[in-house]
Amino acid sequence: MREHDLFRVPYVGLKQEFAQRKQELASAFNNVTVNASYILREEVGLFERSIAEMLGVKHVIGVNSGTDALFLALKALNIGQGDEVITVAHTFVATIAAIVHCGAKPVLIDIADDFNLAVATLEQSITASTKAIIPVHMNGRCCEMDAVLAIADKHDLLVVEDAAQSMGAHINGAYAGTFGSINAFSLHPMKNLHCYGDGGVITTNDDRLAEQVRLLRNHGQTPNKELVAFGFNSRLDNLQAAFLNVNMKYFDGDIKRRRQIALRYDFGLKNCAGLKLPNPPQETGYFDVFSSYPIRCAERDRLLNHLQQKGIECFVHWETPLHRNEHLKLGHFSLPVTEQVAREVLSLPMHPFLEDEQCDYVIGAVKEFFNGC
Ligand SMILES: Cc1ncc(COP(=O)(O)O)c(C=O)c1O
Repeated sequence: MREHDLFRVPYVGLKQEFAQRKQELASAFNNVTVNASYILREEVGLFERSIAEMLGVKHVIGVNSGTDALFLALKALNIGQGDEVITVAHTFVATIAAIVHCGAKPVLIDIADDFNLAVATLEQSITASTKAIIPVHMNGRCCEMDAVLAIADKHDLLVVEDAAQSMGAHINGAYAGTFGSINAFSLHPMKNLHCYGDGGVITTNDDRLAEQVRLLRNHGQTPNKELVAFGFNSRLDNLQAAFLNVNMKYFDGDIKRRRQIALRYDFGLKNCAGLKLPNPPQETGYFDVFSSYPIRCAERDRLLNHLQQKGIECFVHWETPLHRNEHLKLGHFSLPVTEQVAREVLSLPMHPFLEDEQCDYVIGAVKEFFNGC
């Protein structure tokens, strides 16, 4: 039995999702295999076009992971040896790995209360070697992009969004993945829009960058198979694209449900003095898509233990901040908020298949920990 099966309220809802969509997914599998359409076929193109339409971006290029999306985006911008790239330590390791694998130097800054980069500390980290900023839109909420873009503009820096966790998030209609020169998304099974394995996309409005990443993802070959560069094998799998085309039909409903759950958690927990909650969903301004619901609590480990005892599966993103991982050799950064968050953060179950009763059970269990609050 998998760990998720042991919980009364599991952290993810992938099994329920499969149960509900299995006929359509099976039919997608059938179409692809009957036609032996495996590599860069119609399904990939269809998926790329529907993401482009949803986000309002000119080019969408499907690749094999969010990690490769970041790496190829930086490569297309020629970022490498001697360049510094500013980002946060409060992210999945892939953000920083992409910078390192390009040969550039990661410069890490602290985060603000919404878990996104602290814009106030950004400018002081810029040096003559800074080439780009990677704002990471954490947990389904956009970074303060007006401020990031203004600073980038002032210092002539490139912006590459890590929108891995934030497909569908926007600020007054301007979507994550449309602000930077070239941007990356993950389609990993834990993401709001996902396939059933690895996948990612790159977005850009720049024709030249789009052409460059199309080459890079497919061994340096043009669409008519002319070999013009050394590239990589980083194509979005056509079968995964077929599954994504099914999940796209449900995407708006999934996001709506995530936002309902966030509202329910907020209503149920907002009077707990010992907790810091994420911003509740708003109708205007920041449209958050709640890929996670991270709460903060000074007694995080005790709360986590209590919830596990009650059969509620939670997640800690992340216990050891990346600059405190001795193997990564990034210990020269001082990031007090990131470190405090690592001690306090705890993500409650959040997925579109969570039922109201399950949310209320989680709320009840958290309240019990705080003696009623
Ligand atoms: C913020 C962030 N960046 C990058 C990635 C990497 O994406 P993938 O797992 O698809 O390679 C992830 C996924 O976990 C992520 O959360």
